[in-house]
Amino acid sequence: MIKKGIILAGGLGTRMSPITKSINKQLLPIYDKPLIYYPISILMLAGIKQILIIVNKGSIPQFKKILQDGRNFGIKISYAEQNQPKGLPDAFKIGKKFIANDNVALILGDNFFYGQSLTEKLEKASKLKKGAIVFVYPVKNPNRFGVAEIKKNKIVTLKEKPKKTKSNLAVTGLYLFDNSVIQKTLKLKFSKRKELEIIDLLNIYKKNKLLKFEHLGRGAAWLDAGTIDDFNQTSMFVSSIEKRQGLKIACLEEIALIKKWINRKNIKDAISFYGNCEYSKYLKNLF
Ligand code: TTP
Repeated sequence: MIKKGIILAGGLGTRMSPITKSINKQLLPIYDKPLIYYPISILMLAGIKQILIIVNKGSIPQFKKILQDGRNFGIKISYAEQNQPKGLPDAFKIGKKFIANDNVALILGDNFFYGQSLTEKLEKASKLKKGAIVFVYPVKNPNRFGVAEIKKNKIVTLKEKPKKTKSNLAVTGLYLFDNSVIQKTLKLKFSKRKELEIIDLLNIYKKNKLLKFEHLGRGAAWLDAGTIDDFNQTSMFVSSIEKRQGLKIACLEEIALIKKWINRKNIKDAISFYGNCEYSKYLKNLF
């Protein structure tokens, strides 16, 4: 079982400037909670309790103010800084000590996943022993993403933002890696945009026949909140589902309670921490 997860929550957020000039994107709201709650919920649903959050230089206090050390959610959160956005695989250089001898999941701080069979798929995938697993999802505009071409149930090509492609399958921002990811990252060279590229890393696994994939399926939702429009759409999506069902997406305390990682006392503490708000009202109804 994968026990450790890294959330990359740094970045410049250029596409959302001026909003992101003074606040990190991951702390902005997706409907009724900060964006960072959503990727945390995904790791928790996958059964991961040890989480490293990588943030921009100087941002740790802001994240700590809301998430603290994760105790309220029955998990252990630690933090590390990234001096500048050097690309996604940089997470494995920064997180080397945290990963130690274990396998690891990486999720992008601005990625939103939702869907019926998601938890089951995650639990199954997190049994990974060797290799890497990516999750692919059909999109209308694949040239905005890393794209996987799949034939006979195998990934045949993986390209970053291809101008032309026959495939509509984007590689989403959730990846599972075996421990060799630390060594493999050391082999990577900076690309033209001066970043270490996740696609290059995945291609090393592919070359070694160690890259697997899972379809998230059209019944699931995957959104990456990179632009103002993406942000608004994701917020509206969450708002529609929550209003319809009366259930919250990514209520971390609820997930922890279901998993028996926290108890009623922790929920009471959370309510007094959040104060009088809709989120607290929801927590009160959990028991
Ligand atoms: P991106 O969408 O590539 O970058 P960004 O969020 O900084 O936005 P923009 O392109 O508008 O400048 O990053 C995806 C996610 O990964 C996002 O949550 C930020 C995070 N990230 C890091 O933490 N460190 C990095 O080096 C990179 C490249 C991204």
